Amino acid sequence: LNYRVPRTRGDIFQTLIKGLQRLEYRGYDSAGVAVDGSVKDHAASISLYKKTGKVKALDEEIYKNNSIDFEAELDTHFGIAHTRWATHGEPSPLNSHPHRSDKNNEFVVIHNGIITNYKELKKYLVSKGYDFESDTDTEVIPKLIKYLYDNRENDYVSFSTLVERVIQQLEGAFALVFKSIHFPGEAVATRRGSPLLIGVRSQYELSTEQIPVKYNCGNAIIEHTNKVIYLEDDDIAVVVEGKLYVHRIKRTAGEDPVRVIQTLQMELQQIMKGNFKAFMQKEIFEQPESVVNTMRGRICFDSNTVILGGLSDHLKEIKRCRRLIVIGCGTSYHAGVATRQILEELTELPVMVELASDFLDRITPVFRDDVCFFISQSGETADTLMALRYCKQRGALTVGVTNTVGSSICRETDCGVHINAGPEVGVASTKAYTSQFVSLIMFGLMMSEDRLSMQQRRLEIINGLKKLPELIKEVLALDDQIKSIADELHHQRSLLVMGRGYNYATCLEGALKIKEITYMHSEGILAGELKHGPLALIDKHMPVIMVIMRDACYKKCHNALQQVTARQGRPIILCCQDDPEISKMAYKTIELPHTVDCLQGIISVIPLQLISFHLAVLRGYDVHVTSTNLPKSSAFV
Ligand code: G6P
Repeated sequence: LNYRVPRTRGDIFQTLIKGLQRLEYRGYDSAGVAVDGSVKDHAASISLYKKTGKVKALDEEIYKNNSIDFEAELDTHFGIAHTRWATHGEPSPLNSHPHRSDKNNEFVVIHNGIITNYKELKKYLVSKGYDFESDTDTEVIPKLIKYLYDNRENDYVSFSTLVERVIQQLEGAFALVFKSIHFPGEAVATRRGSPLLIGVRSQYELSTEQIPVKYNCGNAIIEHTNKVIYLEDDDIAVVVEGKLYVHRIKRTAGEDPVRVIQTLQMELQQIMKGNFKAFMQKEIFEQPESVVNTMRGRICFDSNTVILGGLSDHLKEIKRCRRLIVIGCGTSYHAGVATRQILEELTELPVMVELASDFLDRITPVFRDDVCFFISQSGETADTLMALRYCKQRGALTVGVTNTVGSSICRETDCGVHINAGPEVGVASTKAYTSQFVSLIMFGLMMSEDRLSMQQRRLEIINGLKKLPELIKEVLALDDQIKSIADELHHQRSLLVMGRGYNYATCLEGALKIKEITYMHSEGILAGELKHGPLALIDKHMPVIMVIMRDACYKKCHNALQQVTARQGRPIILCCQDDPEISKMAYKTIELPHTVDCLQGIISVIPLQLISFHLAVLRGYDVHVTSTNLPKSSAFV
């Protein structure tokens, strides 16, 4: 945070703390701020405040501090702030950011990402006499910059030169902001692998959030400005005396030297949770509208045509391809699993669905005549992004399916579809999944437009899409019934979710939601595999949810149900309305409206989204901050 106009120290704290609060929903375990220490000569010191727990606790700690003069007016100044989700080292004030070079706070740094070669750097710095106080990877960064500063060849080394030298030594992913008592009124920010954006008013603010977390980076700054600059890897941004300069260490031929100011398409109220208990709940209930937003302007229900503008220019090339590869992580991967069968049917192409990390581990063969889809809500998930670069290098055509305009995946793919689900703030993905699902179906429809033999099928699907919002509303109306089922299940240790065919992805996705936010063991089981092992788990104590809808797999699912009940299992069944045959074998049913087979997964996933939400609340977890996924941290400067 840098203001050229005088501001009181109280204002500065308030802006920083509020910014951190806007990022709280992402989950964190500690928070910290660094501000200029003294009133008259801000070069003299930097004050650090760090605390484990809520931002509120940090705020209270600061306000309790009698030595701070909150009324003091400051001229040029920088404050940096950060929330941490522990990667290296337990949550503690010492392990929190900002990290410092030494007891005088000569250099302080906030970092978002992971430094993979920190052990080697630490060893070297320790051998040079630098003492470490935390267990973090980040701490090597302030120590390293101080080492370079202490050993500079001449007195005139600039702050940005020092930062350039630091990042040349770093391996891993980072978005960094530096502040130093040796360079009063200056701040330097840089990134590689982790996103970083600069909010521009007449003043500057910086906000970063770590991949693979949702990339709603604007949350911390949207109330100050909607004008932003996205930094690219290895950009160095320096603010000196209120002016922003961005440069690169090395410019490669042909690259764009300009960083344009973009407008964030986000309104403050869009990221507020209104009457809902949590963003996740709000987003589940937004699905009747979010799927409409995904389809808006793309499906013409009169002529039964589908046009995805972002793909039009490449459609010929896509139609000539030999294979489609759909790549993603977590929920986004499940959107690929959910739509694979209908894509195979409508495109008549082989479709591979791949987890990005495994795809890379296998060094999967990719060819020039492959079309690779990268599915990602955030557009920033590291494995998906790496898989994209991998496929690009091998000459495949790359297509992004993301929810975040301007994200790395958007920028680096040849073409793409924006799913238009609106900002997804909850850590557990919900509305993005159903919108990814709809987007991939629309792609299949677009590909099959001129196939005469498929017109009937296309018509059926397009009609199904038209009715989808109403059907989603019907499912949401079952919330009380679903909550009572969650009530019954919330003390259990494990929950199996079974299904097959078009609804297998629902089982995987339901189980992922349950694991991720309720900390309950859960497994999505392909009902066809039941006899090959999982059946051994079934008895009258093991909670089982089965998805049995009226489609081509109905009979086979019925068989699986018989096997479950034969072992005294007591299945809760998601089935179609009016299905007495299934109902009589069920312990409980959740009756869902029927739609076209390939769209049924959109309907069947919603009760599982709701169950996982209710289970998390009943088990006492704060749904905002519950996630087992990779460590997250956010910085607001
Ligand atoms: C994290 C989240 C998941 C999400 C996955 C992929 O692991 O916890 O909910 O599905 O990332 O995220 P993306 O932004 O690429 O869809």
